[in-house]
Amino acid sequence: MYNVKQISADGFWVGAADRRIALFENAFPVPRGMSYNAYLILDEKNVLVDTVDAAVTGVFFENIAHLLGDRSLDYVIIQHAEPDHTAALQELILRYPQLTVVGNERTFKILNQFFSCPIKSFVVQEGDSLKTGSHTFLFNFAPMVHWPEVMMSYDSKDRILYSADAFGTFGALNGSIFADEVQFESDWLPEARRYYANIVGKYGRQVQSILQKIVPLNIEQICPLHGPLWRKNSAWFIEKYQKWATYRSEELSVMIAYASIYGNTKNAAEILAHLLDEGGIKNVALYDVSVTHPSYIVAEAFRCSHIVFASPTYNAGIFCTMETVLLDLKAHNLQNRTVAFIENGSWSPQSGSTMRSILNTMQDINILDTVVTLKSSVKEEQLSALKTLSADIIHTIHAATPIINHAAKIEVNALFKLTYGIFVLTVKDQYKDNGCIVNTVIQVTDNPKRISVTVNKANYTHDSILKTKVFNVSILTTDVPFSLIQHFGFQSGKTVDKCADKLFKRSDNGLYYIDDYANAFISGSVIQAHDYGTHTEFIADVTQAVVLSHTPSATYQYYFDHIKPKPQLKSEKKKVYVCKTCGYIYEGDPLPSDFICPLCKHGADDFELLEQ
Ligand code: FEO
Repeated sequence: MYNVKQISADGFWVGAADRRIALFENAFPVPRGMSYNAYLILDEKNVLVDTVDAAVTGVFFENIAHLLGDRSLDYVIIQHAEPDHTAALQELILRYPQLTVVGNERTFKILNQFFSCPIKSFVVQEGDSLKTGSHTFLFNFAPMVHWPEVMMSYDSKDRILYSADAFGTFGALNGSIFADEVQFESDWLPEARRYYANIVGKYGRQVQSILQKIVPLNIEQICPLHGPLWRKNSAWFIEKYQKWATYRSEELSVMIAYASIYGNTKNAAEILAHLLDEGGIKNVALYDVSVTHPSYIVAEAFRCSHIVFASPTYNAGIFCTMETVLLDLKAHNLQNRTVAFIENGSWSPQSGSTMRSILNTMQDINILDTVVTLKSSVKEEQLSALKTLSADIIHTIHAATPIINHAAKIEVNALFKLTYGIFVLTVKDQYKDNGCIVNTVIQVTDNPKRISVTVNKANYTHDSILKTKVFNVSILTTDVPFSLIQHFGFQSGKTVDKCADKLFKRSDNGLYYIDDYANAFISGSVIQAHDYGTHTEFIADVTQAVVLSHTPSATYQYYFDHIKPKPQLKSEKKKVYVCKTCGYIYEGDPLPSDFICPLCKHGADDFELLEQ
């Protein structure tokens, strides 16, 4: 029996779930199953966006037949030629012989390698569009996210981005198909992170490239090929992608990955975990690499800023399961982490130096000097070394932690950070937390310290300040992603709960402030409000002012010059070469004959032209 779900006035999810699957791609455990999303849009010409995996074609064809009735299926857009999305294509062509398959040159090259049936093809280039009646689909190529032919489709009528593998997750959909109807951060984020890290984690540069392309689009809904759909708060998930794609950790925390034969290396790992916990480090994670599948450890490595590898010496090298994990992390291009080693060896401990030799080949890995060496088991000498290692790790975490000195209450330097800049103004009334973007904060007096902020009366934030007489101003920095400004500035708190996921910290007045991408926050208590017609100017005593970082403030001009994306729906045609070994993308022509791939170090001969 069919099982469809409406996603817009004339758009439908026609996918299905597989809960019998043990290993996705025969490699990654998926204990919660897997969903294969596909979408049907009914228009003058009916268009299907992708098909599904072979395991779920039965209900997929029932879904399409139910929605189409007597109507024809005119187009299928193949965003990604991997068989988990094209296994049904050959039967689809047999069932709907008039069907035109939409893809790029690379798509058809791969499809013709998998299939032998005739395909009525419509070849598109980057920036081309397909009009099906009232809908127009714009194509943005996303090479190596996750295969070279991948492209995304933006429906400009419904403002839906069909995002292929990007923004997907492991796990079968259960009832609801929308991220805002499930507990995504607690129930889905770990699997979304594991999916990202293991499927496209290697291709951070290419993910950054497609994020640049999609941010200018006016997106109301993101529909990936796996997992929940995003119709609210997608900026939060896009920001996760920006962090993962640039190999920045999500948390200042520690993962300890250990291998242990008789329990002594495990003992050292657990002692270190307790020392770190006693030192105030939150969310320390311990994994036995012989028990936990490497995909979970790769995912945790993308979450944590620090990683400790603990391994016995084995065959004069590293324990086999630890070697697998280290090579997996290297294969997924993990970068920008601080690492340390615990080695064990009853007669000739060598695993530390062997682990170091692998980590030394990875980019931006800071290896701590302290190595804890066990000769069979933990004795007083090793306990002392573990305490030293714990102190070293805690020191580097504190050095990377934004400066927060609440005892000082008002830091003059926080006020010096104030410019005619760009700020997040946060409030909280009896109903909810909210915030908006303003550029009108100035310091009006030094003694007492007072600031003013002018707010448009149409803003929900305005009414909250009138009622509660308190607010926070977070001073945004030059590295702020556009998505954060988009989140607070391009939607109204009257219709959207911008703080639904409680991602921020609270100041002494109980209001949220932005602790990432802000160099200071200032709390204000309103003493006067001046009505200026369309706006109200609020004069406020500063009740708290805290420096959070030393990153420069973003001026309003800087925002326009460097942060706000320039529209580029139809990009200029470029020659693109892809490394056949690792997928690294080189844009430009010609590819220099002496070019060396910066990732895998293969030469120009191992590159091939991707598109023209
Ligand atoms: Fe979901 Fe890369 O296939």
